[in-house]
Amino acid sequence: MAFFRSVCTLLFQILALPLKLLEFIGIYSIYKRAFPIMMYRVAKNYNKKMHDKKKELFSNLSEFAGPDGTLRILEIGCGTGANFKYYPSGCKIICTDPNPHFQRYLQEAIDANDQLEFEKFVVSSAEDLKAISDSAVDVVVSTLVLCSVSNTTRVLEEVHRILRPGGALYFLEHVVSDPSTWTYFLQHVLQPLWYFFGDGCEVTRATWKDLEASKFSDLKLRHIEAPLMFMIRPHIVGYAVK
Ligand SMILES: C[S@@+](CC[C@H](N)C(=O)[O-])C[C@H]1O[C@@H](n2cnc3c(N)ncnc32)[C@H](O)[C@@H]1O
Ligand SMILES: *[C@@H]1O[C@H](CO)[C@@H](O)[C@H](O)[C@H]1NC(C)=O
Ligand SMILES: *[C@@H]1O[C@H](CO)[C@@H](O)[C@H](O)[C@H]1NC(C)=O
Repeated sequence: MAFFRSVCTLLFQILALPLKLLEFIGIYSIYKRAFPIMMYRVAKNYNKKMHDKKKELFSNLSEFAGPDGTLRILEIGCGTGANFKYYPSGCKIICTDPNPHFQRYLQEAIDANDQLEFEKFVVSSAEDLKAISDSAVDVVVSTLVLCSVSNTTRVLEEVHRILRPGGALYFLEHVVSDPSTWTYFLQHVLQPLWYFFGDGCEVTRATWKDLEASKFSDLKLRHIEAPLMFMIRPHIVGYAVK
């Protein structure tokens, strides 16, 4: 089975070769402009399907407010700001994303959620949040981001650094399926093409293992099946306390 899977994966790698070439010669950077337009639609649809899950997850945010009663949230890979409406009123938000072309959509989310105090948008990948000082925030949020970062361990180290002791990383991420399933098979076979349409997204990651291996003191993590297409059906949801 593993051999058959490898052969099929190779086939799709060959199919993806023209896209790899486009990436290599730099045309792919045009895609960075187009992706936010697509993500805007995807995020709206995702919120519809995952509304209850997000509501439940974020209902607990206020418990992590700092000693002065203010809740300071930083989002990594914030995209279009699809999580804003789930944040409690009065909280302060810093958004970060390596793709500057999200700013327009972010502004729309800021205007639509004036219960929040928006601080700034920092163009930065989550592997390197040098604009943010140590222990600066109460909560970090990551939804659908750890599938596309280049080094999950490094990201979790950075998140841990910028959180105050007792602060928490909230996550909702799609992950690889159980190896006994067809979903697992298809995730591996279709990954080479998916990578390009999903802006570097990898559906074959066992992200919970990185969370388990990280420095967080307390990890509340659940595996759930999201009501989404098979490729991104298996999800993990929860939070990790520094
Ligand atoms: C699928 S979108 C999710 C956007 C948003 N978090 C949401 O839930 O709607 C993935 C996001 O991760 C961002 N991203 C990609 N690589 C990243 C990295 N290394 N660090 C932080 N964000 C990254 C992308 O620019 C994009 O905004
Ligand atoms: C909310 O967070 C607190 C920790 O501050 C935890 O004790 C509690 O069980 C959480 N509730 C839910 C529903 O996760
Ligand atoms: C990922 O980051 C970790 C922690 O910073 C580092 O030890 C490791 O070498 C990095 N991995 C890669 C492939 O760069």
